[in-house]
Amino acid sequence: MHRFMAVVTLRTSCILLLLCPEVLPIDVHTGGHYIAAVYEHHVILNPNPTIITDRQSALELMNRNLDIYEQQVIAAAKQGAKIIVFPEDGIQGFNFTRTSIYPYLDLNPYPDSVTWNPCKEAHLFKDTEVLHRLSCLAQKNNVFIVANVGTKQPCKHSDSKCPPDGRYQFNTNVAFSDNGTLIARYRKWNLYFEYAFDTPPEVDHTLFDTPFAGKFGLFTCFDILFYEPTVSLIKKYNVKQIAYPTAWMNQLPLLSAVEFQQAFATAFNINFLAANIHHPNLGMTGSGIYTPSKSFIYYDMESVNGKLIVAEIPVVTSENKSHMEDITSPDSNVQKSSLGFHTDNNVCHKEDKVHCEKALKKAHQTFPVFYGEMMYDNFTLMPITETEGNIQVCSNTLCCYLNYQRFDKTNELYVLGVFDGLHTVHGTYYVQTCVLVKCAGLNYSTCGQEVTEATGLIDFQLQGNFSTAFVFPLLLTSGVTLDFANHLGWKNYYYFMQKKGASTGLITAGLYGRWYEKD
Ligand SMILES: *[C@@H]1O[C@H](CO)[C@@H](O)[C@H](O)[C@H]1NC(C)=O
Ligand SMILES: *[C@@H]1O[C@H](CO)[C@@H](O)[C@H](O)[C@H]1NC(C)=O
Ligand SMILES: *[C@@H]1O[C@H](CO)[C@@H](O)[C@H](O)[C@H]1NC(C)=O
Ligand SMILES: *[C@@H]1O[C@H](CO)[C@@H](O)[C@H](O)[C@H]1NC(C)=O
Ligand SMILES: *[C@@H]1O[C@H](CO)[C@@H](O)[C@H](O)[C@H]1NC(C)=O
Ligand SMILES: *[C@@H]1O[C@H](CO)[C@@H](O)[C@H](O)[C@H]1NC(C)=O
Repeated sequence: MHRFMAVVTLRTSCILLLLCPEVLPIDVHTGGHYIAAVYEHHVILNPNPTIITDRQSALELMNRNLDIYEQQVIAAAKQGAKIIVFPEDGIQGFNFTRTSIYPYLDLNPYPDSVTWNPCKEAHLFKDTEVLHRLSCLAQKNNVFIVANVGTKQPCKHSDSKCPPDGRYQFNTNVAFSDNGTLIARYRKWNLYFEYAFDTPPEVDHTLFDTPFAGKFGLFTCFDILFYEPTVSLIKKYNVKQIAYPTAWMNQLPLLSAVEFQQAFATAFNINFLAANIHHPNLGMTGSGIYTPSKSFIYYDMESVNGKLIVAEIPVVTSENKSHMEDITSPDSNVQKSSLGFHTDNNVCHKEDKVHCEKALKKAHQTFPVFYGEMMYDNFTLMPITETEGNIQVCSNTLCCYLNYQRFDKTNELYVLGVFDGLHTVHGTYYVQTCVLVKCAGLNYSTCGQEVTEATGLIDFQLQGNFSTAFVFPLLLTSGVTLDFANHLGWKNYYYFMQKKGASTGLITAGLYGRWYEKD
């Protein structure tokens, strides 16, 4: 916990955080595949980021990172990659002040109003050396590139949001076509204690088009937890491929990078190309190429090296619906029922209702609930003490139900937990969560702490009566590896996840709900 506190005061960018009005269905791509690449970059940092330097020195440092990008673009292209994604802050690093980052900023480009190929037209704008180099890499290697750069944009004081120094400074994702043309820019909306950067005056919903997989959406790091721009972009344009630069500090048991990235791809039924910074000392590692049903990930707290991930994946099309759409579509009845535990056959599938109720009562008498802090939130918890059973915990309007059968012979302690409330530490956002999680030790006071190894093998069905349609299914196993549920989705106003026959110990099975309206 304290490690996380310390890490956050570093003012890095995140935790741990074009436009066509109508997107045509990409039916022509049904059944198609493409090769994607993401690079987890061990960023070369400025040792004195708060000291003011000049553009020349800033470029020297950034070019050292870009030299590594160049090797990776070449390696990815050799393996047939059509697109490569690089992490947030991967070129200039982090820990700057508003003033000290200035020499590292390129001019903020306007791809929507000007068609510009920085490699071919290097001198059209000044202070665009980084964009120029990225553009040439794309052109030379014939690959789409998504990267994150710091940008500046002069503004007039007549603009009420213009900062006193007369310029905006943005945390910006840029995308280049495989001929070097700058085709998209996205300015980060949900900054994570990034005092060097401004929130843009209006939110960007950014897409770019590709011939191999249709439209890609763009957002950055902490944005993943919010309605704007993330959910809004995906729903409005029916986006099925996302490129996601991040600098994410892992936080177990619910918000490790790979754990949440997979949950996001699964929940929205999309392809998700996530590139993180590699910096184990800051808790940053965890990148991947995720399809709705398969993940290619990298997570390594030991190595000091970056990692290129290349994978061939199927194009997801607009025919592939997300199960969140089941409940968010206008004709579905989103009104919350007060269906109880005993009326649901999923939970008590083996027994009759009366028997089930009795078992539940007994469980409550024998094992009263207790409270434990998990990621700064006060969870209501109940231990799992039998080899099989049904238990339930509630908090506010959320009730979580667990039907379980345990197969391992160890005595590791697991609990069922619920939290329904406003999370207020390092960001403010409303969470509804049901979780089955391994405690760090045998004492109840250790429940909610970070754990990375586990041997517990548990068949389970976990479900909750969420008030939000946006539930992210987490399934993290020993050694920070990932697993997939056998079944999940909505049924009778409950969101459920079912898993049987796992071969790796369980760390976290979670249903992480975001109730955006209550933020
Ligand atoms: C970031 O700055 C803080 C002081 O504000 C310092 O303690 C920390 O070591 C710096 N981290 C990096 C990665 O430079
Ligand atoms: C370069 O790529 C862009 C976007 O994919 C495309 O619109 C443009 O026609 C291409 N330019 C050339 C010269 O091929
Ligand atoms: C997407 O839909 C197509 C056509 O219905 C199907 O063949 C494919 O398996 C689906 N892919 C995913 C990832 O759901
Ligand atoms: C969830 O179930 C509990 C217990 O039956 C009930 O009190 C609560 O109102 C339900 N919540 C919603 C949103 O329906
Ligand atoms: C957690 O919530 C319970 C129930 O509201 C309360 O009794 C307890 O004091 C809380 N614990 C902390 C540490 O806030
Ligand atoms: C459990 O932890 C608490 C708080 O750290 C401690 O007071 C208590 O003695 C521990 N219980 C056991 C059985 O070790």
